[in-house]
Amino acid sequence: MAVTIKTTEEIALMREAGRLASEVLEMIEPHVQVGVSTGELDRICHDYIVNTQKAIPAPLNYNGFPKSICTSVNHVICHGIPSDTKILKDGDIINIDITVIKNGFHGDTSKMFLLGNAPIHAQRLVKTTQEALYLAIDMVKPGVRLGDIGHAIQQYAESRHYSVVREYCGHGIGRIFHEEPQVLHYGKPNTGLELKTGMTFTIEPMINAGSRYTRLSKSDGWTVTTKDRRLSAQWEHTLAVLDDGCEVLTKRSEERF
Ligand code: MF3
Ligand code: CO
Ligand code: CO
Repeated sequence: MAVTIKTTEEIALMREAGRLASEVLEMIEPHVQVGVSTGELDRICHDYIVNTQKAIPAPLNYNGFPKSICTSVNHVICHGIPSDTKILKDGDIINIDITVIKNGFHGDTSKMFLLGNAPIHAQRLVKTTQEALYLAIDMVKPGVRLGDIGHAIQQYAESRHYSVVREYCGHGIGRIFHEEPQVLHYGKPNTGLELKTGMTFTIEPMINAGSRYTRLSKSDGWTVTTKDRRLSAQWEHTLAVLDDGCEVLTKRSEERF
């Protein structure tokens, strides 16, 4: 399947799905507290998506994923599986990744939460990763190439002595959760796909405090951790390319673009 260009009507549906995904992150925030389990956060999000939003949590049963959201704590990079035995503690950092399907279209977004008094090095990693996403979003417009965006993220992270995860990337999104193109968070300027009006995709940099290398859990087949067990952070938005820039389909109220 090639890269799809969405019509104005399709982008309106993507906007609705994106809004719902962002609202789940806003809804869950007050529940992200020391002492709560990631399993409980999953149940709260699942019930809200299904009962309040009348939408579908896309991760549930996606390629066999067993839960409705991803919860990735500390050295977990992505695809952490919520569990009743994983209790958040003071100083933890957690990524909560929400994907909903509404009227056949996907909205995909994630953010980091800091629990209590997170160490300054953790705060700095989380902030830098968010800034990397924001600078990438600022670049998105027709004519820009994916390699330009990947390069900018990589430069920003590496200039701060962090590393960029290579094995997982952003992706085209629409009626299909993960479609073309692959949106790498590293690269070379003037390479890769040229953006066109009507493309919709995610940018979701995963930035490690230590080395870029990853490890996939052999026991659950999903949980991706840093090989060196140092911290990792991730932020994600779903975007639509417009004639004069882009629209952040998963923007939260606290954000200005
Ligand atoms: N939401 C993730 C992404 O940003 C994908 C999760 S797939 C799952 O692409 F199966 F782990 F849920
Ligand atoms: Co995604
Ligand atoms: Co996601």
